[in-house]
Amino acid sequence: MQNKKLNIGLFGFGVVGESLYKVLENTPSLNAQVKKVCIRHSEKERNAPAELFTTIASELLHDDRLNVIVELIDDADAAYRIVTTALKRQKAVVSANKKMIAAHLEELIDIQKEYNTPFLYEAACCASIPVIRNLEEYYDNDLLQSINGIVNGSTNYILTKVFQENISFYDALVQAQEAGFAESNPALDIEGTDAVNKLSILLTHAYGIINKPENILHTGIQNLDPEDAVFAAEKSFEIKLVAQARKLKSGKIAAFVLPQFMEKSSQLFNVKNEYNGVIIESSLADKQFFYGKGAGGFPTASAVLSDLSALRYNYQYEYRKLRNQQPSEISTDYFLKVCISFAGLFQVPNERFTKILEWKYNDQRCHITGILPVSELIASDWWKQSDVSIIIYPEGIFENYEPVKEKVNFKKFEFVEVG
Ligand code: HSE
Repeated sequence: MQNKKLNIGLFGFGVVGESLYKVLENTPSLNAQVKKVCIRHSEKERNAPAELFTTIASELLHDDRLNVIVELIDDADAAYRIVTTALKRQKAVVSANKKMIAAHLEELIDIQKEYNTPFLYEAACCASIPVIRNLEEYYDNDLLQSINGIVNGSTNYILTKVFQENISFYDALVQAQEAGFAESNPALDIEGTDAVNKLSILLTHAYGIINKPENILHTGIQNLDPEDAVFAAEKSFEIKLVAQARKLKSGKIAAFVLPQFMEKSSQLFNVKNEYNGVIIESSLADKQFFYGKGAGGFPTASAVLSDLSALRYNYQYEYRKLRNQQPSEISTDYFLKVCISFAGLFQVPNERFTKILEWKYNDQRCHITGILPVSELIASDWWKQSDVSIIIYPEGIFENYEPVKEKVNFKKFEFVEVG
């Protein structure tokens, strides 16, 4: 198998597809060549010979000369059909489509097994950072305590520009789109969907958990307010969108994607722009930090390339956490220390807090800091309203928190209850 020639059928010739094509053309030593490219818009001008292109998927999927399909399109439904058809025809597949993979991972794992065909997707999580392969190969034991990371480049880019360079949210988003970092529907980035798709894939490789992303607690940066940055700065924090998975004493896993106050001492504090950073904590090694570009054509192509290279020796994910160990479960039984920020006085059901620790307000915004049961966040959506934002504190996960016995007396916060 070593050094077998890879004849590639490529789906998609966008930012990543074109970058991959260029790299393969310029690196003959890889023994991998794009033989055919399937695109949706034949009228677009492409920087490659016209005879490479087709709009007919079956020309690639049914071509027996092709032994690898690389799927780099953004239509998750079409990607699902391409990937499953290719695997069933025993063509190895490399994909970067986190939305599709997160939505269908259980079935895709079964198909790989049934057809004994590799399906690799390092580019789906954190682009250039080899996080999936590390979880598969290096952290192949049950000592993994946590994964904590900035896994979406676009939102990190926007937060960096808005909070540090005073560029408007909209302009920063346009820049992220122009640079090719954002999804074609940028709401997927902004609302935390892309990050939770990635977290759900990481949970499978880290803890053997298969859980649909929509069932994992998440939100994005869509509701953050400029006053939140002021509040954060007063405490010497910045705000980042962070995906977290932490093993609790019960053995279950706390997992979520939420904006977080980032303290200067965290390695994630210095992760700026489209960069991603992942801290993996294990019982023996303590913390390890992975850092690299999390979006963009060439960084993503580098992960695809690494997967292609692995296919030359027929590498497959073994999903050991899923197959060889008792898979973990996601917990809903823990507490978060959060700041809820909102416009107006009494939108927040303060009686749902286990404890209120601080309440600050000015003309524009109220910031209430307290302890909330995660079950409350899962069961309700008051905290997702457009003028409410949620930011969790560093070290903000608590397995137990003694409920306050007496009712909180809001008079002491000098509020007059209205409505
Ligand atoms: N839109 C994604 C991001 C691309 O910004 O991280 C890489 O997955």
